[in-house]
Amino acid sequence: MPPVQRIYMTGFMGVGKSSVTPRVAKRLGFSSVDLDEEIVQHLGMSVPGIFEVLGEEVFRETEWDLLQKYARQPAIVVSLGGGALGNPHALNLCLETGLLIYLKAGPVALARRLAKSRQTRPKLFGPNGQMLTGEDLEHRVRTLLAERASVYEQAEIIIPVDGLSTSQIADKVLYAIQKNSKG
Ligand code: S3P
Repeated sequence: MPPVQRIYMTGFMGVGKSSVTPRVAKRLGFSSVDLDEEIVQHLGMSVPGIFEVLGEEVFRETEWDLLQKYARQPAIVVSLGGGALGNPHALNLCLETGLLIYLKAGPVALARRLAKSRQTRPKLFGPNGQMLTGEDLEHRVRTLLAERASVYEQAEIIIPVDGLSTSQIADKVLYAIQKNSKG
């Protein structure tokens, strides 16, 4: 079997996909791409701006278009936005064209990390347009994660990441890729 050409990193917002992806790519000698950054560049607006002005539907269409573009590129690690696999075609495309890896964390750890992050994620905004905090944030994370878990769990590799540093996660990802039959 030829070596895998594409690695797709999935998982909930804040789990660390964007920081782990370039490290994994570098060690594989692959290029890396962050789908959110590509969408922002493509539409010339921040993620909250896109959601507010153009709507989530336009964000999702662009996400899908760009994913299809990178699914044709060899030797690449793609960091997916946490909601990208909500599109069943996207899940199938990742499974068919590469190796899908789920960075898995629990809602408490995720909410803790997200509480310290920048205000860039409209799915975590409250009615006042600001990011939720405290118990409200944890509740939103829990609800969204419960909705999405069954999709994330379809990944070929699942890496539990609670309590691990970025470099420890990258090590685990690389080890799992080497062990995998697609890799
Ligand atoms: C989203 C996750 C974000 C970004 C957008 C929507 C989601 O990406 O695509 O804010 O629906 O989970 P990250 O997972 O990189 O934060």
